[in-house]
Formats: sequence, C-alpha cells, structure tokens
Amino acid sequence: QQEQELPKVEELPASSNLRRYDGAQVWRIVVQTDKDKKLADELQSKYDGQLWKEVKQEVDYLLKPQVLAAAERHIRAANLSRIVLIDNLQQVIEVENPPLEKIAELQNRKGHRLTWQAYHRLEDIHGFIDYLAKTYPDICSTEIIGYSVEKRPLKILKISNGKPGNPAIWIDGGMHAREWISPATVSYITNQLVEGNDELPPHLRDTDFYIHIVANPDGYEYSHTTDRLWRKNMRAHGRQCPGVDLNRNFGYKWGGKGTSASPCSQTYRGSKAFSEPETFYISKFISSFKRNTFQGYLSFHSYGQYILYPWGYDYQLTKDRADLDRVARQAGSIITKSSGIKYTVGSSATTLYPAAGGSDDWAKGIAGIKYSYTIEMGDTGRYGFVLPASFIDYNGKDGFTFVDTVARAIHLGH
Ligand code: ARG
Ligand code: ZN
Repeated sequence: QQEQELPKVEELPASSNLRRYDGAQVWRIVVQTDKDKKLADELQSKYDGQLWKEVKQEVDYLLKPQVLAAAERHIRAANLSRIVLIDNLQQVIEVENPPLEKIAELQNRKGHRLTWQAYHRLEDIHGFIDYLAKTYPDICSTEIIGYSVEKRPLKILKISNGKPGNPAIWIDGGMHAREWISPATVSYITNQLVEGNDELPPHLRDTDFYIHIVANPDGYEYSHTTDRLWRKNMRAHGRQCPGVDLNRNFGYKWGGKGTSASPCSQTYRGSKAFSEPETFYISKFISSFKRNTFQGYLSFHSYGQYILYPWGYDYQLTKDRADLDRVARQAGSIITKSSGIKYTVGSSATTLYPAAGGSDDWAKGIAGIKYSYTIEMGDTGRYGFVLPASFIDYNGKDGFTFVDTVARAIHLGH
C-alpha cells in the first residue's frame, strides 16, 4: 500500500462551526544564523504567523492569506529561503479525516467504535478503553485519575498480567490538542498490547502499562469542533485568551527558557507549576507509586520524527545520557529497517530548542524515571499536524516498535 494520494474533497457539513483556513499556507524557513532566526520569527510578531515547528535549522509557520504577499516580501528582503509546505490549509483539513460512515469496518461492528482508519472523537476513544476493561478484565482496568478544566474525565487504562514486581511504563498522548496522530498512535499501541497479548514477548507481558491516550481532552474536543489547530488546554483567563500549554506546566524548572508568561502565547506556562488539573493529576498519580516502580515515561507528540530525551529546559545532559541515547537509537534503527521511516535522536534542547516545564523533564528530574522520552511522530512536514488518517497505521507500528524497544531495555536492566 504505497499510494498516499489525497482522497477527494469532502464538503464539511453545513452545520460545522469549525474555523476555516481557506488560502492559509504553511511555510518552512531555513535558518542558519541567529540573525536569520530573528528575521524568521518576525513572521510571528509582525505577520501574525502561527508557529508549527521549530528546530535548530528550520522553522515552520502557518500564515493567513491576508499576509502572504507582505510576508513573502519580508522573506525575500531578509534573503531567507522558503518552502511552501501547504498551499491551501483548508483543503488539507477537509481531506484529512474520512467520515466514519464511509468506514466499512464500522458497519455492524460490536463492542467499540474505534478504528485506525480515521481520527476519532474522545467518546469513541473512551468507549474503546471501557470495552477493553470489560472484555479483558484479567489484564485490563480503567481508572479516572481526575477531571479536566471542563470536567471531562482523565481516563487511563492499566494493562498488567498481575505479576508482582513488574516494572511499569507510563504512556501518554494528546497533550497538545492538534497533534491528532499522537492519540491515534497511542490507541494503536494499546490495541496491540491488549488484543495481541497472547503473542507478546515476555518483556512486554511482564510490564505494567499505564496508558493515558488523551491527556488534554478539552483541547482535543475543541480541535475537532472549533479550531483544528488548537494546541493548549481550555483554561479560561477572563477576557484574555484561553489555554495553558500543558507541556510547559510541569514542575521541573518551571518558568524557564522557551516558555511564556502571556496567556495569549501558544507556549503559555500557566500561573504556576501544575496549575492545570491535566498536568497535576498525572504527577499525582505517578507520585503515588513507590519510587522506581515506573521505569519508563513515554510522551507522544507530533510532528517531525524525533526521539528526544532530557533535558528540555536547557542544553545540559543527564548522567545516564548514554543509556537513553543508545536505546533511542536502537528504536530508531529498528523503525528505519522495518518501515523506512527515519527518526532523529537527541536531547530535546539540543535537537529542537530549550523549553522548560515539559513532562519528560519532570518524569526524569522529579519522579526519577530513567527512560523518559518525548517522541515526535510523523510526518516531517508535508502535512504536519494535518496528517491524513491513512498514515495512522505506519505511525502506530513505529510507535509500537519504540515502546517494545524501551520495554526490552528495561528488562535487560541497563
Ligand atoms: N514539541 C514538544 C514541545 O514543544 C517538545 C518537548 C520536548 N521536551 C521538553 N521538555 N522541552 O512541547
Ligand atoms: Zn506537542
């Protein structure tokens, strides 16, 4: 199955309140010097661009149609090179997700409504978790670890064969609302671990998994109903812009580099560490276990295809960086061998940019979890956040390989 052509344009239902992006474009700017970077960032400050991705050598920006001409002049005047990644965002949004009525597999399906051929709403994902707990009670159970700002349940699934002394791995997805491939990948992994449990190797069967598929349920729903490109949670700030960036709200070096104190920023860190229920309850849950129970903390994001380890807050590295680097590279090379997809490995700050208050740094620095990673799933930018649902399978397999590799390393004990 190699063809990845866009399906035909489906008109959105007339009743949709979804914000439109007609004629909006996504550009990639190559930046070589600090001066280049500063000039490129004027796309945000002067042209109201929305930052999509930022790494050392390049930045991706979403630009509205009204500013395209002026922004193009700016880029030319600054002598920067530019690639148009998406030339009409609305069109890509409309073909990204096939309507569920078109999915044959769902006709007279019993049990649950989740598939890996479309991106689903929270209700289907939670229904899937409940189905697994009901169908496989000897290995699965659900728990509500708290409630979101808008009072949605923060629902997790535990998978365990009940052997005492199993190491535990935490997995979360959907911390950033618009990164739809993340919850899709995490639910794919969950399905493999449960439905395929009999065929799992011992290092996966003898691991307790705690899986939080949609860590930001309010933002996720908002990205389906109102604004496809929403990133933060839905915390209200009076008359100011809503939302806190959950991955800047964790309590390790909170408030440092790469975070903003303005509610309107995409990287707003919140009023204090763990000000948000979505982050607070994750930390509370993990902290309630005996130290060293959790040996893995895996946070799924998109996009860019990176496997990242601490630190994120700054360029320093951890003492055991060689272990984290080795396991990440191992996962990356197995993925490349099996699917041809390439993942770049490195510390968060050196590979992307410093950003404090991330969940991975907290997991490592405070919870003491050795194998703490953030993985940025596909793609590398052709579609970015608006990745067609036909890519879920590839990402799901690669995500599973990553989990498998980390679990094996934990069982080998180094
Ligand atoms: N793209 C992710 C973010 O911006 C990367 C997080 C990496 N980890 C970190 N602690 N900075 O949230
Ligand atoms: Zn993210």
